[in-house]
Amino acid sequence: MKVLVTGGAGYIGSHTCVELLEAGHSVVAVDNLCNSGKKSLDRVREITGKELDFYEGDLRDEGLLERIFRQHKIDCVIHFAALKAVGESVKKPLEYYGNNIGATLSLCRAMDKAGVRKLVFSSSATVYSADNRMPLSENAKTGDCTNPYGWSKYICERIVSDFAASDNSRRVAVLRYFNPVGAHPSGKLGEDPKGVPNNLMPYITQTVLGRRECLNIFGDDYPTPDGTGVRDYIHIVDLARGHLSALEYIDGRPGVSVFNLGTGKGVSVREMVAAFEKVNGVTVPCRIAPRRAGDLAVCYADAEKSAKELGWSAFRTIEDMCRDSWNWQKNNPNGFEE
Ligand code: NAD
Ligand code: UFG
Repeated sequence: MKVLVTGGAGYIGSHTCVELLEAGHSVVAVDNLCNSGKKSLDRVREITGKELDFYEGDLRDEGLLERIFRQHKIDCVIHFAALKAVGESVKKPLEYYGNNIGATLSLCRAMDKAGVRKLVFSSSATVYSADNRMPLSENAKTGDCTNPYGWSKYICERIVSDFAASDNSRRVAVLRYFNPVGAHPSGKLGEDPKGVPNNLMPYITQTVLGRRECLNIFGDDYPTPDGTGVRDYIHIVDLARGHLSALEYIDGRPGVSVFNLGTGKGVSVREMVAAFEKVNGVTVPCRIAPRRAGDLAVCYADAEKSAKELGWSAFRTIEDMCRDSWNWQKNNPNGFEE
């Protein structure tokens, strides 16, 4: 298949490009590089020994998308391109709605014009309402999001679902990711956040590297076994492969299909830190800090539907995630910057 990967230079996009190329697909990537750089795609080429086409530009530029669809016979699109920082979205709601919804609308319009019928959309566990019971199945209540980023994903899910419903030859998969962490086992590709990391794993790796003084554990008084927040961390390579399963799955299924991409297991912040220290033989300096506004105590997936229907499960362990994250960070202390 020839796959258009939007946001292809980003963390999840670049790892998915590797898996697509290694599975024998052709890849055309498009990215405006607002949160990434071209070096990640050079690393994709280095790891796979294969070429991919890259267009630098914004998805809201419909002329660019039309040109891409004219120049390539695209079979399906995997749509990663979005802004994703929860806290920033509260400060810049219009930017988040404008970018995430604008990009999705312009992509759907261009797909419509070009007659491209298959779409895999990157959504997030953040679309689930906070009052659900764990684990979260795909039928759990959505909405009541606590920030504009979450709402933008919720609205985009609606847009791509209505897009699918309006023509029965369209096939759409909505994938709700839990907490992607880790890096490619080669150590050549990984997460390279700009500025101070918001997420746990890059904060841990930068702390061990000495770029941060110590890890702030946001709250140790949650109703969890050790008092720290519990999440469903999923290795980036497992997550990337979930997209290949989704492409196969939607091939024969019109309409929209929704899947969680998680492991189904919850891991606490303290457990993650302990695993990181043990696997890598390092110390992670930590201190207990106040709870972070908007955080849930516990969030993990019901992974049964993905296993049964999609035929996909995550099997990499927390130890794999910690080892590969550190391998990437220590080999690339400044990320993709030389
Ligand atoms: P990322 O920032 O590394 O990748 C997103 C890429 O999209 C970046 O390279 C950015 O430059 C590009 N981009 C953004 N807006 C664009 C636009 N208008 N036109 C062209 N390119 C644009 O983020 P990621 O972690 O790889 O996330 C990929 C997708 O997965 C996003 O949709 C995100 O919301 C979703 N997601 C991520 C997580 C996570 O924890 N990483 C969790 C759930 C869902
Ligand atoms: N945490 C710390 N210290 C830090 C960073 C995080 O203690 O410096 C804790 C958090 O309080 C939480 C856990 O580590 O208990 C995970 O936090 P992350 O920020 O890594 O991840 P979140 O679960 O908050 O959010 C992530 C993505 C969102 C996405 C959500 C659900 O950042 O975009 O998963 O998929 F919506």
